[in-house]
Amino acid sequence: MRLSRAVNIADLRAAARRRLPRMVFDFVDGGAEDEITRDDNEAAFRRLKFRPRVLVDVSERPQEVTVLGRRLSLPVILGPTGLMRMVDHAGELAAARAAEKFGTVSVQSSGASVSLEDVARSATTPQWFQLYPWGDRRTIEHLIGRARDAGYAAMVVTVDVPVVGAREKDLRNGLTVPPEVSPRTGWDVLRHPRWLASLLTHPKPTYANFVGLMPDARGTSGLAAHTMGMLNPGHTWRDLEWMVERFGGPVVLKGVMTAEDARRAVETGCRAVVVSNHGGRQADSVPAAIDVLPEIADEIGGEADVLLDGGIRRGSDVVKALALGATACLIGRPWVYGLGAGGTAGVERVLEILQTEIDRTLALIGRPGVGSLDRTAIQQDVVRALTT
Ligand SMILES: Cc1cc2nc3c(=O)[nH]c(=O)nc-3n(C[C@H](O)[C@H](O)[C@H](O)COP(=O)(O)O)c2cc1C
Repeated sequence: MRLSRAVNIADLRAAARRRLPRMVFDFVDGGAEDEITRDDNEAAFRRLKFRPRVLVDVSERPQEVTVLGRRLSLPVILGPTGLMRMVDHAGELAAARAAEKFGTVSVQSSGASVSLEDVARSATTPQWFQLYPWGDRRTIEHLIGRARDAGYAAMVVTVDVPVVGAREKDLRNGLTVPPEVSPRTGWDVLRHPRWLASLLTHPKPTYANFVGLMPDARGTSGLAAHTMGMLNPGHTWRDLEWMVERFGGPVVLKGVMTAEDARRAVETGCRAVVVSNHGGRQADSVPAAIDVLPEIADEIGGEADVLLDGGIRRGSDVVKALALGATACLIGRPWVYGLGAGGTAGVERVLEILQTEIDRTLALIGRPGVGSLDRTAIQQDVVRALTT
């Protein structure tokens, strides 16, 4: 498919689904257990309706926002997603390139398939680094030191993965790192020869930041078992405090779903939180991220930046999140659909689509720019239900 023919994110998702083996598409698209939270992230945006105003001068509709003191041209950040070379050989580099082109930033996963140094070298502006509280303090300290030395502007600590969520599709599909052609996956892979040829002629997707650091970073094992062996469910706020101190720069806490934890994050020295349920890939049956945004924005808005991810598939979703108190949004699956549909150009198409949709939505609801958004842009009965 020519990328210009993709008129929305759903078109890019469909194109990625055609181009990728099922095990890879499911790895991207799937959620935990019954996928209740994954689906509700999107459904919750659909439940929110605008209160459109008319006869407002909307001839100018700027989209700039300031996050951690830096101006972004677009209120959309490319969120951290690991192992992206499974989707396309450009991998995580594509996110950094597209972000730079659109004047925004990408968050580079510690579970990336391109090393944090390679991404930093290829980028001309500092990106953000995402850290899972892996293993022990020595491993964490090592990664933090590397991120600092490579010039990352902020560190995002993801805390909703004490253990790996049950992504049952991955288990059923027999997904491994790197992906293997086995009797179980053979037919699926052979039906996608272009993807297979690319896999065989480029560096194998693996946890590039861990090569030589942890056993198995190049080996093959079940995805969940592999990741599980690298995590540490014993971390607490005290460990976070230590990470904040070690990094020295701005720290963002990702995976916050309650006002209490948002407050604690600020007290621990975090400069921002990401309201997130990991795209419904971790705990199932937790609320949609957008449904808990107002309580968190009420608690810490003004003291720290409040970011949100989960379920954003339209520019209008970004507008709704900003109206309910988000400073900016992160996207996960949408940029990965673009990557699967057309590599770096596909990721750029995602940002182009969202930018256009945000712009059009602002005009249609009578808001001259994202700076003019507040809760009165959303139907009040819904806002009341979310804030009482
Ligand atoms: C394929 C994939 C890999 C992910 N890997 C990471 C990761 O390494 N670190 C992290 O903090 N979040 C990771 N996430 C979660 C995203 O950062 C984000 O929270 C989520 O995708 C947002 O929901 P959305 O996909 O509906 O936009 C991943 C998500 C996907 C889809």
